[in-house]
Amino acid sequence: MIRVLFVCLGNICRSPMAEAVFRDLVEKEGLKDQFIIDSAGLGGWHVGQGAHKGTREILKKYNISGEGLVARRMSQDDLDAFDYIIAMDDENIAGIEQLRKEHQQAQVAKLLDFVHDTDVSNVPDPYYTGNFEYVYELVTKGCQSLLEKIKQDHHL
Ligand code: 4NP
Repeated sequence: MIRVLFVCLGNICRSPMAEAVFRDLVEKEGLKDQFIIDSAGLGGWHVGQGAHKGTREILKKYNISGEGLVARRMSQDDLDAFDYIIAMDDENIAGIEQLRKEHQQAQVAKLLDFVHDTDVSNVPDPYYTGNFEYVYELVTKGCQSLLEKIKQDHHL
């Protein structure tokens, strides 16, 4: 199994969108059985809540299932339970590295590290910007490039 965790601050806007978009791509490529895909937030404010209305609306617009998205807080155990931990911005990276213990080997990267034709390196937080459409565009590019990288890593 290839285990992928998307991480943002609140786990209601960006990382659940990435989880849903990545799951959709994996399903369309017929690779569903090889992946465990989840998302989590570094903060605990929205634990137990569904995705933000803006994220739900954008997923619906692009015909992507947002079923089963429930916010949870990232834990240190996630650094053992997942192979790829994919953050949305530099602040998330710092938060994840604070949780990491020395022996924990998960690969931690930002989603846009995998996209080469963009100057943007952080996915801006739509909780503050309100621009879910732009976030969807970046998340989709990031997820496509991430899947290509993982397919290469695992000879899929
Ligand atoms: P997200 O957005 O990290 O993309 O889910 C946020 C959602 C909620 C908060 C911050 C960011 N908040 O402070 O409640």
